[in-house]
Amino acid sequence: MSDDQDNGQDTGRALPEHGLPAERVLGDVKALRAGDRPTHGGRLFAYVYDPAVPGLDELAAAAHASSAHVNGLDPTAFPSLLAMENALVGAASRLLGGGPGSTAPDVVGSVTSGGTESLILAVKAARDARPDVAAPRIAVPVTAHAAFAKAAHYLRVALDPVPVDPVTLRPSAAAVAAAIGPDTVLVACSAPSYAHGVVDPVAEIAAVAAGAGVRCHVDACFGGWTLPWLRRLGEPVPPFDFAVAGVTSISVDLHKYAYAPKGVSVLLHRTPALRAPQFFAYAGWPGYTMVNPVIASTRSGGPIAAAYATLRHLGEDGYLRLAAATRDAVAGLADAVRGTDGLRLLAEPESTVVCFTSTDPTLDLFVLVDELTARGWHTQPQLSYADLPPSVHLTVTAAVAPRVAEFGPDLADAVAAARAAGPVKLPAELTALAATLTPDALTPELVAGLAAALGLGGPGAGPGGAAADGAGGFAPDATVNALLDAAPPALRERLLVEFVGLLQRPTY
Ligand SMILES: Cc1ncc(COP(=O)(O)O)c(C=O)c1O
Repeated sequence: MSDDQDNGQDTGRALPEHGLPAERVLGDVKALRAGDRPTHGGRLFAYVYDPAVPGLDELAAAAHASSAHVNGLDPTAFPSLLAMENALVGAASRLLGGGPGSTAPDVVGSVTSGGTESLILAVKAARDARPDVAAPRIAVPVTAHAAFAKAAHYLRVALDPVPVDPVTLRPSAAAVAAAIGPDTVLVACSAPSYAHGVVDPVAEIAAVAAGAGVRCHVDACFGGWTLPWLRRLGEPVPPFDFAVAGVTSISVDLHKYAYAPKGVSVLLHRTPALRAPQFFAYAGWPGYTMVNPVIASTRSGGPIAAAYATLRHLGEDGYLRLAAATRDAVAGLADAVRGTDGLRLLAEPESTVVCFTSTDPTLDLFVLVDELTARGWHTQPQLSYADLPPSVHLTVTAAVAPRVAEFGPDLADAVAAARAAGPVKLPAELTALAATLTPDALTPELVAGLAAALGLGGPGAGPGGAAADGAGGFAPDATVNALLDAAPPALRERLLVEFVGLLQRPTY
């Protein structure tokens, strides 16, 4: 008898001795999912993008299932996938100022697994287009997504951070110009940035890049599928796409505001020549000849088919309607923040983000985040960075619209509770440790002790372990955030790696 069947105990192991019935297994997955944050319902302001369109999930799931076993490794073997990819790239290109009749008629692109892959490939294409540069560098605003740093790290390209104005949260073209040197192969900007939802001055930055003969990538992963609809709705959206002459590539994630299930982003290049160094081909082995436009080799057709079905079902009119609902939700949430004593919008919303900070030393944002969570609102805390204060981030999607009226009173309540609780008081020795410890001095024992003191789950959390009954798992509450906030970035990084390393342990 297997462990799964004896004593009525189920350890949730992935490979039981005897297979279990489909219904039972699906029930197990559903039971595990019950501990997750709610992906639907408009109360989770990060990680998920929910249009709340009836039937859309079922449609996407059916399309996903129909192509899940198709392999994008070879587009000639599975022309269905090639056709859907080309259609997705065409849709993204047209939406972002490319295609027939535009000033960028030769736009080409690839479907990737997500924003990070798109950015890594944009950096790779820029790097490999300049074999003459021995030590390539990229100039990236500090507000740009962390995936640029990841790309630089993976590809051994140096990252030159471009400072932003602490009020507008945008880099100036002059600051970008100052960061460009003879080894710069790419300049990046965001439309908009994830953290604050602010659109960089793309036209000015692209002009500076073009003047220096450097590629300019616009990271529109987050907002590339909303800004065009917001513009059509009459919102003042500055030029950010291929209509801007110096823009050489753009990324846009379909698994964000195109509301497709996860695993789909599009990387566009203005011309085939700009895209060419993105590809990898290899014929120096005895197996099949390999040519990969993207990082993955074998790729499921599922996400691509699901995105294709999603776009075709929603259509332009659907996205316009969803953008209008989102815009109204953003306005409502921003009003709630403006009307709350002790809070201040960090940036005036200009896309689909509401980001606020505290103006009152007795109101600890990390405590507020916990109080909001207790009231069923899942927001995202952002740590202080350089001269920017800590903040709370809300990614707003169409599903939030019907919830907006409930948010204001709960926010006021949560603020009162957070004030009453007072700011997190870290034990003095922890604060001292965070301020003085160097990443190299972190021993496994110290990390385990810290994790235990902070109540972070260790081995055993996960299926069948402590997290399954709600008693453990990774719960980065106000205390954890306060500790991280007190630490310099290099120590934060090391602590995060160690903490997540503690979580990622096999269960048997
Ligand atoms: C602006 C921006 N770029 C890139 C990414 C990375 O995307 P992904 O998480 O799909 O890899 C994100 C994710 O939020 C983003 O907001």
